[in-house]
Amino acid sequence: MTPSVGTNVPRKDGIPKVTGAAKYVDDLRFPGMLHGRTIRSTIPRGRIKSIRFDFDTTGFTIVQAGDVPGEKCNYVALIEADQPFLSTGEINHQAEPILLLAHEDRDTLLAAKVEIEYERDIPIFDAESSPVVFKEIRIRKGDVDAAMATAEVIVEGTYRTGYQEHVYIETNGVIAIPEANGGMTVHGSLQCPYYVHKALKALLDLPDDRVRVVQSETGGGFGGKEEYPSVIAGHAALLARKSGRPVKLIYDREEDMVATTKRHPSVIRHRTGLTRDGRLVAMDIDVLMDGGAYVTLSPVVLSRGCIHAAGPYRCENVRTSGRAVMTNTPPNGAFRGFGAPQTQFGMEVHMERIAEALGMDPVHLREINALRPGDTTATGQRMGEDCSAVEALRTAVERSDFHRKRAEYAGTNKGIGLALFYHGSGFTGSGEVHLKSKVSLEAREDGVRVLVASAEIGQGTRTMLSQIAADALGVPYAEIECEQPDTSQVPDSGPTVASRTCMVVGGILQKCAEEMREKIGAMDPREYARLHGPLLVTRQYDKPHDITWDDTEYRGDAYAAYGWGCDVAEVELDPVTYEVRPLRVTVIHEIGKAIHPVMVTGQIEGGTAQGVGWALNEHVVMRDGAMANGQLTNYTIPTTLDTPRLDVVILENPSSYGPFGAKGVGEMPIDGPAPAVVNAIRHMGLDVRDIPAIPEAVMEVRCASR
Ligand code: MOS
Repeated sequence: MTPSVGTNVPRKDGIPKVTGAAKYVDDLRFPGMLHGRTIRSTIPRGRIKSIRFDFDTTGFTIVQAGDVPGEKCNYVALIEADQPFLSTGEINHQAEPILLLAHEDRDTLLAAKVEIEYERDIPIFDAESSPVVFKEIRIRKGDVDAAMATAEVIVEGTYRTGYQEHVYIETNGVIAIPEANGGMTVHGSLQCPYYVHKALKALLDLPDDRVRVVQSETGGGFGGKEEYPSVIAGHAALLARKSGRPVKLIYDREEDMVATTKRHPSVIRHRTGLTRDGRLVAMDIDVLMDGGAYVTLSPVVLSRGCIHAAGPYRCENVRTSGRAVMTNTPPNGAFRGFGAPQTQFGMEVHMERIAEALGMDPVHLREINALRPGDTTATGQRMGEDCSAVEALRTAVERSDFHRKRAEYAGTNKGIGLALFYHGSGFTGSGEVHLKSKVSLEAREDGVRVLVASAEIGQGTRTMLSQIAADALGVPYAEIECEQPDTSQVPDSGPTVASRTCMVVGGILQKCAEEMREKIGAMDPREYARLHGPLLVTRQYDKPHDITWDDTEYRGDAYAAYGWGCDVAEVELDPVTYEVRPLRVTVIHEIGKAIHPVMVTGQIEGGTAQGVGWALNEHVVMRDGAMANGQLTNYTIPTTLDTPRLDVVILENPSSYGPFGAKGVGEMPIDGPAPAVVNAIRHMGLDVRDIPAIPEAVMEVRCASR
């Protein structure tokens, strides 16, 4: 059998997508379907005094908090029960859902006017002075105070990152269908069918088998469809329940941008002790993340952020203190990288400033401190042979001709800078143990089916999992199909997040395939099914025995494996407009094994462009706690012409924990571009420490330095 792993087989979703046959949620029609709409708050904090319906309510379905089956049901089930599906009178952020309308005619629905009177309270917008802490995290290694006292050089710095909007091509959308047995079916654009399933069970007070969640073809997620679909699915379900008819709820771009989650803004503070020759002696790191009005996923975003905060470096004395706090803005949430891009931005710009302070070559500073096999991270995790920080760094420097260009650009309007980074694959700490993900593989007469809840969101899940199953089973790739994620059909393989689908879900799938092969011997699976009937094999996540994690002390093996990356950015400054134009990014990623090199390259290119956008273009303007530029005309993401030339190199240093050696790749590409770009700007003598580095900000830095 010719192996499919490592080759660029045709995508399973390719032809349906390019021919238009693939069905996205807005393509689905159900008899008697109504359109839904959400009425939202227009103040950041306060109470509702009165609600008045300024329209003829005939033919409308109206849902308010009182329509939720029970008071305790009115919370979006996630980490904390604090976020109501619909306000019960208290308002904690702009665009907070207050009531829902449905009507069969969309124009009539959109014309309906609801007048809401409020009593305003003083909102909290400044995370640094917020009195409400959602989550604190402490990581302790060695004795930071004692080591800092012996340091020959101390460098301090504060770094800030802004919001980022996901801008998936397809906005959030769902359709809820009431079932005759009192149950509810939801089709939607989402990453985590079982998160939505859990939220709907709690909201509607229904047992497992009365709620069915089906992922329709999904036009991108980037973390933006990790937690939010539970909210919109709940809203559509409430309208469907009350009207007794299917209800479609799809956001337009502005509603999606203004009302749904964003990347957490952050403030990262470093105090670092070094020897004069550049060895890290002590690192004291403070991480602050702005959670917005409700807890949502902030505790786990903070956790990943804190664990990655010391970067891919060895240091015997590290103290990381993190806080996620409340502000009266829409909740911030999951976004590709999940806290790690923020903290690694701080670390890598700080490393550049350390190099400047020591008068040292930035490559040399990183090279002497980079983690090597046998070293330990801040949580005490010992690095194995698949630790590739040094190799990624050396490859990037050589490939980009870093030192020659560094000298050539000096004193011009061009700059070159780099960033070294890493990214843990899979849920943090004991997360995978708690998830207990399940995967099934079924041999039938017509082929072999992969049964997982892991969603294809454009990243190539169906193709990659089919390749793993095909090779582990020893059958052609064409014989494998992935079932549509539908909670009535597939086991809970966990959420499609955390760079876990290939390494963790793919790893369980590989075991299913091996077990199936053992059961059927040398026989073709289809032939076996014809003779003996369908064969279903189900396996559950099994923690590798040599991985340990202590949740209370925050010590141990935070992730089974890490990917390693190094980006070199080259930029040019327009001396008149202060616009920074990215010219080229050299991107080195070590990811264990590229199951499908073309899709991996696509992930890396997309994530890099998204990271460059976060650094230079993407500026969320908040006015009175609401995004004021919720349009793509003034929240600008890089287009083809704005995207620099990307030179991507994939390195493979296999992990024993991943299928065929593969680690995660979905998130890591967004960790490096922002610090590499800012370090390239620093090469031109501009002391930029915050992003986005929009022209106004760069101009201020230049003026301040004169
Ligand atoms: Mo994610 S940001 O783990 O979908």
